This record gives sequence, structure tokens and C-alpha cells, in this order.
Amino acid sequence: MENYRTFKKIGIKVFPLGFGAMRLPIIGGNEANIDEKEAIKMIRYGIDHGINYVDTAYPYHKGNSEILVGKALKNGYRNKTYLATKLPTWLLETKKDMDKYFTEQLKKLDVEHIDFYLIHSLRKHTWERAYKLGVLEWAEKMKEKGYIRFLGFSFHDEFPVFKEIIDAYDEWDFCQIQYNYMDINFQAGRKGLKYAASKGISVIVMEPLRGGKLANPPLSVKEVFDSYHVKRTPVEWALLWVWNHPEVALLLSGMSTMEQVKQNVETAKHSGIGILSEEELNIIKKAREEYLRLTPIDCTSCNYCMPCPFGVNIPGNFAIYNNAVRYNNSFKDFKWEYDALGDGRASSCTKCGECEPKCPQNLHIRDLLEMVKDTFESL
Ligand SMILES: NC(=O)c1ccc[n+]([C@@H]2O[C@H](COP(=O)([O-])OP(=O)(O)OC[C@H]3O[C@@H](n4cnc5c(N)ncnc54)[C@H](OP(=O)(O)O)[C@@H]3O)[C@@H](O)[C@H]2O)c1
Repeated sequence: MENYRTFKKIGIKVFPLGFGAMRLPIIGGNEANIDEKEAIKMIRYGIDHGINYVDTAYPYHKGNSEILVGKALKNGYRNKTYLATKLPTWLLETKKDMDKYFTEQLKKLDVEHIDFYLIHSLRKHTWERAYKLGVLEWAEKMKEKGYIRFLGFSFHDEFPVFKEIIDAYDEWDFCQIQYNYMDINFQAGRKGLKYAASKGISVIVMEPLRGGKLANPPLSVKEVFDSYHVKRTPVEWALLWVWNHPEVALLLSGMSTMEQVKQNVETAKHSGIGILSEEELNIIKKAREEYLRLTPIDCTSCNYCMPCPFGVNIPGNFAIYNNAVRYNNSFKDFKWEYDALGDGRASSCTKCGECEPKCPQNLHIRDLLEMVKDTFESL
């Protein structure tokens, strides 16, 4: 098998690119309305050209991704690929819910077993709840009965929580983290990647293009890439960077057009561990630095300003604003992150000014929070 990589602990061989069924083509801008014919064609094209890992989850496409994947894997495709789906931890209220959702998933996918089953989107609170409900004992039983082959988790919190989860269980077969050349120090990040590997656990990478943001960088970042004598698209640079890591078993891309599937399959064929030269790694480093230079608020998230007596998440507001500017002023795309801050939003600022003398960067925090509030709350 050409260019396949191996999951360390479990010895499974996979194509470097996995198919993420979270961003399938849709009709009429409606998430739930998957363009079934095209999506099936894309998944099958991927499998026909090497892909052997398809990733879906209970909530994707408002519950319809699992059904679509089930259809795509008919006509003999189920035997040609590993199938991954995930337990919706945030919906668990009782122990019985695990059986309920799992049974529903088997039905939607119309399969007898799941190859890679993930405890979905672990954060501190979802992990603690699932752990208390006995998710590990439940999953072990499902493995014994043959309903699940390999058990892992996907993760969206900070490194200490990642370490806690890895350390809590010796039998994790794999894990899944967000990782790309901009998110080296975000969530589990590089530390998490290395830590999992030190325990013999191979990592699946999600969001290798930061959900698509790295596909279309600002001009000055693009110029950095174009300065190299070998011409590659920003997507190729970003994916090859992830594949360069020995700790990565495969990366998932949520491809939304056939063209993207074709391009990414081709790139995967030319990928490899440690194939990027020092010079090439330097180009990516420069691109990253350029992205960071385009940062309007010079907050380093040192947290010296915290806690705010009125509950404003000061570094959180600034990070979201900076990200929106960095990725082509995409404020609309980041509004949900701003809204998710709840009472920590910039609008909770009373301008008491307690924060400003504590800021090592001498930021005019009150004015900046007002700018953040005005930007997001006028959308
Ligand atoms: N478990 C979890 O908590 C979790 C969370 C997130 C994701 N995931 C899984 O991981 C998968 C990957 O994450 P992701 O979808 O965010 O991956 P990603 O690769 O960071 O972003 C996917 C987007 O990148 C763009 N893209 C991909 N290939 C391209 C190409 N060749 N040229 C131009 N643009 C391209 C497309 O954007 P456009 O649609 O704008 O063209 C696509 O929708 C998901 O599909 C899902 O299966 C899991």
C-alpha cells in the first residue's frame, strides 16, 4: 500500500488523508440538506483512490451525515474503509443514554460495528460527566461484544485537561486533536501531540486548515509561500506540514467539493514524515509569523488583567477579534465564538479600569473592549 501510515498501538495502516464528513456539499445553504448524489460520489472517489478512513459524528449536518455515510458505504465500500463516529457526550444524562445513542448510530449508518469510536469533543466538564457515568466501562463492554474495534476521544480544551484524560486510562487506542501550523500552542497543541506519542498513542488531526481559513490566506502570507522556488498552494503547504509529523497517523479534511477531494488525495500521495527541508519549514514559520503580525490587538494572553470584577473574559475577547482580522476580516464567522463567551463578552465591561494598570503591554483595554463589542454586536 503506497504511502500508508501506521497507528502505533493498534498496527492499523491508513492512507494519510481521512474523509471528514462534516462539511459535505449541501443544497440551498441548508446544513441538513446534503447534496446526496455528489457527496456519495466524493466519498467513493476518495475510497477508490486510497482513502480508508471515513469520519462522521452524531450531530454533523444536523444528524444527516451518519445516514449519508451509511449510504456511501453501500455497494461494497464498507469493507474498503475504516468507519469512525462519535458518542455525543453533551447529550448524556444517564448511563442508558450511551446505549441509546450507539444503537441509533448503528441504525443510521446501517452497519454492525464501528471501527473507530470516539468520545466526542471532550472538555473538562464533558469528560468529568462521561467518566462519572461510566463511559470507559461501557466502551470496554462494547469492545468485548465486537460493536467497537478501537476506542479514542476527540478533544477541545487546554493541554492540562488533555494530559489528565490521557493519564486516566491506559487503553486509549488513539486520540484526535485540532492541529495546524497556526494552532501549535492552541488546545492540546504540539505539547499534546508529543505527550500522546510518548504514551504510544497515535494522533488523528482534525481542522488541518483551521476549518478552511488557511486555504485562502491574506496576500502577504501568500507572498511568503510564493517566494519559495517550488510552487504549492497554501492548502498543500498546510497539509504537508501536518503530515511531516511522525506522531500523526492521519489527518481529516472536511472536503466540500469533488475538486478538493481530488487535490487533497494527490497531495496525500506526495506527503511523508520528515520530508520537508529546513528551508521549507522556515517558509511555513515565516507564513505563521506574517499571520501573527496581522494581529491588531497586541494581547499576549498573559492573563495579568484577570480576573475582571465584572466577569469579562478580556484575553478571550481579544483572541477572537484578532482571529477574525487575521483570517480576512471574517467577523461573521467568528461571531458565534464571541456569543459563546456569554457574560464574559466585551459588553459586560463597565469601564471601571481595574485591568489597565495590570497590563504589561499597556493596552487601552476599555477602548479595545468597546471596539470588540461594537464590531460583534452590530452584526
Ligand atoms: N471531533 C471533533 O470535535 C471535530 C471537530 C471538528 C472537526 N472534526 C472532524 O475533522 C474533520 C476535519 O476538520 P475540518 O473539516 O475543519 O478540516 P479543515 O481541512 O481544516 O477544513 C475543511 C475546509 O477546508 C477547505 N478545503 C479543504 N480542502 C481544500 C482544498 N483542496 N482547497 C481549498 N479549500 C479546501 C474547505 O473549505 P470550504 O468549504 O470553505 O471550501 C473545507 O470545508 C471534519 O470534517 C470532521 O470530520 C471533528
